[in-house]
Parts: sequence; structure tokens; C-alpha cells
Amino acid sequence: MNKKTFYVTTPIYYVNDVPHIGHAYTTIAADTIARYKRMCGFDVFFLTGTDEHGQKIELAARERGTTPKQLADSVVERFKNLWSALNIKYTKFIRTTDEIHKKTVQRVFNEMLKKGDIYLGDYEGWYCTPCETYWTETQLMDGNVCPSCGRQTEKLKEPSYFFRMSKYQDTLLTYIKNNPDFIKPTSRRNEIIAFIEEGLRDLSVSRTTFNWGIPVPQDDKHVIYVWIDALTNYISALDYYNDGENFKKYWPADFHLVGKDILRFHTVYWPSMLLSIGEKLPKSVFAHGWWTVEGQKMSKSLGNAISPNYLIEKFGVDPIRYFLLREVPFGLDGDFSFKTLIHRINSDLANDLGNLISRSANMIYRYFDGLIPLYSDKDEEDERLSEIILANIENIDIYMNALEFNKALISIWEIVNALNKYIDTTKPWTLAKDINMRGRLGSVMYIIADTIRIISMLVYPFIPETALKIRKQFNFSEDLESINFNEEKKVLKLLGGNQINKGEPLFPRIDETLKLKELEGKISVKDDQENIVDIDYFKKVELISAKVLKAERIKNSEKLLKLSIDVGNKSKTIVAGVGKFYKPEDMIGKVIVVVNNLKPTKIMNEESQGMLLAATTDEGVVVLELPNEVPPGTRLK
Ligand code: ME8
Ligand code: MG
Repeated sequence: MNKKTFYVTTPIYYVNDVPHIGHAYTTIAADTIARYKRMCGFDVFFLTGTDEHGQKIELAARERGTTPKQLADSVVERFKNLWSALNIKYTKFIRTTDEIHKKTVQRVFNEMLKKGDIYLGDYEGWYCTPCETYWTETQLMDGNVCPSCGRQTEKLKEPSYFFRMSKYQDTLLTYIKNNPDFIKPTSRRNEIIAFIEEGLRDLSVSRTTFNWGIPVPQDDKHVIYVWIDALTNYISALDYYNDGENFKKYWPADFHLVGKDILRFHTVYWPSMLLSIGEKLPKSVFAHGWWTVEGQKMSKSLGNAISPNYLIEKFGVDPIRYFLLREVPFGLDGDFSFKTLIHRINSDLANDLGNLISRSANMIYRYFDGLIPLYSDKDEEDERLSEIILANIENIDIYMNALEFNKALISIWEIVNALNKYIDTTKPWTLAKDINMRGRLGSVMYIIADTIRIISMLVYPFIPETALKIRKQFNFSEDLESINFNEEKKVLKLLGGNQINKGEPLFPRIDETLKLKELEGKISVKDDQENIVDIDYFKKVELISAKVLKAERIKNSEKLLKLSIDVGNKSKTIVAGVGKFYKPEDMIGKVIVVVNNLKPTKIMNEESQGMLLAATTDEGVVVLELPNEVPPGTRLK
């Protein structure tokens, strides 16, 4: 009989950033459901990868003085290393620079063209490069600023191919309404329905303003829009290009896991593309929530994106995997803090699970020389425990299939705690004193070992390393992906007679005060290599002293001041966001520090030719000043 298949994907991550816990989160979730399904006997395809084209990557490479492909190669290494450190067992890692992917994207484009769904037109709009998004006039914020990231947009007009997305509006809406599982969770589904009901516009799907992308077939002045390119990865990885076996076998996907930031692309653009090329739509797109760090948005510019490598080094892999999936319902936003992480580790992992395993092993050693006895003398305590186990296992399956990871873990821990309670009630240490209770003592040890066998299977998808450590210690089969889970999840399945090993404590208790001290100031961690710049790099930044000659407010802005400054041999204009804390007249005459060789940029229609240095604290902004005797134009080193 052919196994049932299960296809799960993560987003393909951009290579202009190094991996942080946000990326790790989605990938750990995918790995967890993939492991669970494999254990349940499914033939699983688990896809992850990288999104390597587009203007953002081109710019990031230029900034680093490298080529986009070289940048991608090095970041891909970092992603792959991280996935291996996190025990992520993916089936395939797709890169959008793979030959097969490029051919697939062109095939998809051609098929949409043949269908009459692509036409050449003109695109005009306000373009935000970091977000790779065009905005309409009405969407922009004050000063033509991007409503998503707050940065300056620019008005662009270019010839562009368009995809007739409007054509699929009604089909898509009907599909979403008839398939309640297509968009998860439900609150997000309503958002998308409302968006489509406002009316879908045709989508501009090519660009002529940069080169780093997949050329439009037969018109290579254009590169294909990065989202058309990126979304296609889900089928190029299955060899759709050759109508391959994997495509036939695994498509449509069971789950696309995505962050809520990119849900619209996956539930509007992607299904419209699939409708156009006549392929089935994914069964479910699940948008999980957003992690902040100690209450703050994680961002590259704030430099507070938590490095998963640092966390692994300080806490171990499984505590991180456990924390991320236990702390917050998948679908809701969460906040990361060292304090909550330590609490979780100490209470759930060290106290509940870790202690259970070590006290159990110790008793089997003490009373039976480490040999798991046979089951002979039943008692109603055993019955009570097995009812709890069986009821929870049923729930766990429901929760896992709904990606309710935190509920699944709560259920598993009900079993863990029920076993702890079983030990407290049966009191093996008392039984051991009575020679007539030898049979019962053996049966209690058997029940304990048998329940640990079940627990070690259930935790496997979440904390595989720990699960396998426990199974090794108890001499249970370690190949959890080829067991018959339906049989093995029943109680009293242990044959008895296993010789167990003395193990190390699984999760040493963390001294909170000490650990927090060790981690102090480390909330803003990037990988060390990422933080370090060499002297030549620093020297490229021209910091000089400058004297403020004139200062005035910029119309319609309470934040921005326009300053004329003397930079030694000439004067220039800069726009500074200090207007809430400094009046124009406060600024005049100050000797300040500016970055002299910053690329000029337009802010609210004023060209800014540099940037002043200031400290931003909770109270406000403080401009960095030099003593008056420092002449304007002095280079700071
Ligand atoms: O959007 N909290 O790539 P990307 C939770 N290349 N999850 C987070 C997160 C956070 N703070 N930050 C990032 C792209 N993520 C496109 C995708 S798919 C065809 C193309 C996770 O590198 C989350 O899964 O910006 C989010 O959707 C993804 O990283 C965005 O990764
Ligand atoms: Mg992003």
C-alpha cells in the first residue's frame, strides 16, 4: 500500500539578512509537524530554502562590495548551518538561483501568457525599495513615506507586464468561502476575504529597473517580479518543470507555513497564479504570529534580532525549540525574553520532565539493578493513569493536525505530570520495604517505564534530541520514524527485560539570577562575526565636525529641521529628525558631528547631504556636540 503523503513548506527566506529567531520559529514549527507526520507513517516532503533575487538583494550585495550570488552563497551557508544546529530535518532546500527553479518560473510565466492572463502595460507608482512594493498616492504617509516601513519612496514609471489577477477575484472568493481550512487561523481568513471583496487589481509582474532576477521569456529587458519568482518555489522544488513524480505525488501542499506579514501573497497572489496555470490550490496556508524581543519589534536596524546560535550556545537546542512552540499559541504574537525562557526551562523541562526521568531511572536501578521488570500485579492506579494517557494522546493528534502546538504540549505534560503523581501515590520506596510487595513494586516500575516510552515518542517531534537521549537510556528503539505509531502509542506495549543505563540529568536547573547576569546586555545580540567591522570598513565613514549656520523647521513636519552647516571649505544642507527636542534657534552655532559622505537622499522634498550624530534615549534625542574651538571640517578618527 502506498503511504499517505504530507507536504509542508516554510517561506523561502531573503538572503539580505542573517537568520534570527523569527525565521527559526517557522522552520522549527515545520520540522515539528513533519516529524510528527513521519512518525504517524506519512510520506513527508518538507521544503525550505532561500529567496535570492530582487532589488533588495542587489542593493545589499552592492553595500557589502560583493555580487548578489556571492552574498546569497554565504547566507545560504548560515541558514543551512543553523538548520543543522536546530536539528531541522528538511527534505529539500530550494534556492531561487537553482537552474530548475529559473526554468520553472519561466514556464509558469509562459503558461499564464498562453492563458491570456499576461499583458504589457505601463506601471506608475510610488516604489519602496526595501519593501519591494509599489504604493498608491493615497496609501503614502506624509512626505511620500512608505506606510509599511516608514522609509522614503520614489515615484517610478516603467513598462511592465501585468497579470490579470482581477479575473480570478470571484473564483478565489468562492474557493475561500467553501474551504474553511484554506486560510488559518480564522481571524486572518476574514481579513483576506475583506481585502478581496474590495476588489483585486491586476498585478505588475515585471521590472526593468534592475537586473538581478529571472528574465521574462522572450523579453529580457524585464525581470520577473520577485513574488512571482518566490512563490513558484513551492512547485519548482517538486519538479513541476518536468511534470515530475514528486509534483504528482505531493501537490497540493498540505500546509504552507508563513508569518502573518506575507499571508496576502500566499492567499491572493499564489492561488490566482495556480488558478491561471490550472493547478490545484494548497490545502491550507497557516499564518503564525509575530515575535518581539523584550517588547520591541525585531529589526536589522535596531540590531536586536536574537541570534539563534547564541541561544543554542547558552541554553541548548531543545529548550529553544520547546520554548518557541510552548510559550505562545501558533497564530498569536509573542514576546521573547530571557526571563520567560528560563522559567519555562526550569519548570517544564528541568522540574517536570527531567526529574521524572532521573528519579524513574534511579528507582529501576535501586530496586531491580536497572532491569525493567514484567507487569504482573495490576492495580486501579494503573487504570487511572492509562485513561489519562489515552485521552491525551487522542487530543494530541487533533491539536497537531490543527498546528496547535502549545495545546499538544500541554496535553503531553498532563501525561508527564500524571506519571509524577502516580509515583507519589504508589510510593515505590514504601513498597520496597515489604518483601511481599515485590510483585507490585515490579509492576509499578513497569508502568513507569512504559509511560516513559510513550512520553518519549510524544515529545520527539518537539525535542528530538531529548527524546532520543531518553530512548537510548531506556534501551527503546531510537528509530521513531519507522515505528508503527498506532500500535506503539497504546499502553502496556513494553515487553519488559530492557536493561537501562544511568543517564545524565537532561536539563540542569538554571540559576535565574546568575544566568541573567551572564546574559546582561546581550538581548541585542547579532552573531559576533556580524557585529565586527574592520578598521578599513570604519574608515570609509567620513565623520567630521560641522558648525550649524542656519536652522528652520520643515513645513508639515514636527520632527524635521533643515540645517545649513559649515563643513570647512563649503556649506551643505542636512535634514535632521531632532525637531521635537530642539528649536531651530537652539541649533544655531552648535558644533556637531556629521557623516559627511552619506549618499544624499530626499526627505520631504529637501535634499539631505549628510547625517548628524545624536543619541536617542527613552527621554528623547540628544545631539552630539563638540567644544567650540574644534574648527568645522575636522575629520574625526
Ligand atoms: O518574506 N516573528 O522572507 P523573509 C515571527 N522571501 N516570524 C518571523 C519574524 C518574527 N519577528 N521575522 C521573520 C520573505 N519571520 C520572502 C518570503 S515565500 C514564497 C517568500 C519569519 O526573510 C516568518 O515566517 O522576510 C516570515 O513570514 C518570514 O520569516 C519572512 O522571511
Ligand atoms: Mg520580511
